Amino acid sequence: MTSLLEHLESSHRAGSAGGAVPWVVLPTFNEAENIEAIVAAVRRVLEQAAPAGFRILIVDDDSPDGTGSIADRLAAAHAGIEVLHRSVREGLGPAYVAGFRHALAGGAAYVMEMDADGSHDPRDLARLLAAVRDGGADLALGSRYVRGGQISDWSLLRRATSRGGCRYARMVLGLDVRDLTGGFKCFAAEVLEAIDLATVRSRGYAFQVELTYRALRAGFQVHEVPITFGRRAHGSSKMSWRIALEAAWLVPQLRDGGEPPPGRRRPPVGAEPARLTKG
Ligand code: GDD
Ligand code: MN
Repeated sequence: MTSLLEHLESSHRAGSAGGAVPWVVLPTFNEAENIEAIVAAVRRVLEQAAPAGFRILIVDDDSPDGTGSIADRLAAAHAGIEVLHRSVREGLGPAYVAGFRHALAGGAAYVMEMDADGSHDPRDLARLLAAVRDGGADLALGSRYVRGGQISDWSLLRRATSRGGCRYARMVLGLDVRDLTGGFKCFAAEVLEAIDLATVRSRGYAFQVELTYRALRAGFQVHEVPITFGRRAHGSSKMSWRIALEAAWLVPQLRDGGEPPPGRRRPPVGAEPARLTKG
């Protein structure tokens, strides 16, 4: 028998058209040249893959290049697009945490992560969503390092660094996941609800590792879906050696719950004041 609470929960998750609504969260920092084309492509794909409805949430950290106002214009022009404007640039991790909180509060059934720079093919959203909605996964990872996955154009150095970083995290955490640092994912809402977002500490590559590790520890099913990771269309990457070092330093600390030792606690990330624009 389903309890009243479960009933309320499932109707809360149902969109206006009665389906379970996926949200795509797009973090942006200086993506003025990319955001419009990406939003258009995401809409085209999800109109097919999620005909009952979907939402796109752009999380912009006050980009100096005006990405935020372009996003506002898109939200005004199309239903189902929202923009979360954050006043402080804190890195990718905190932007996602803020976006996840907002999507969960809005009743998302599935929450998807995607770069807003053209390196993730919007068509792959359909396969990531299907892996969770229809394929028995609780978390689907777009994976460069399983059969069928690839990287279209990266220098040997970046390839080796990424590959090495994934191997390191895999070994240190004892996980059987090939691509631990990828940023193209689909979470069932339950996974994000079970992860204590307030204690997520990482900002860069480590953020991806941390969330997948926590999902696995909580007993959720994680599937890897092969993707091709491409070149960003315009602009430049926000990641840096500092962020790679953060990952090297933080990953071993994620083991066993990854609660920060007393005295090392930082304020929760993604809790900065934000302003919302809705389409
Ligand atoms: N709001 C916000 N704030 N967005 C940000 C920030 C920030 O501080 N930093 C980066 N972003 C956005 C970018 O605008 C882009 O849409 C997305 O996050 C990815 O940033 P990139 O700078 O393009 O990252 P990348 O290509 O180096 O890294 C990608 O691949 C890695 C694995 O190789 C990302 O998917 C990473 O998450 C992933 O670990
Ligand atoms: Mn990128």
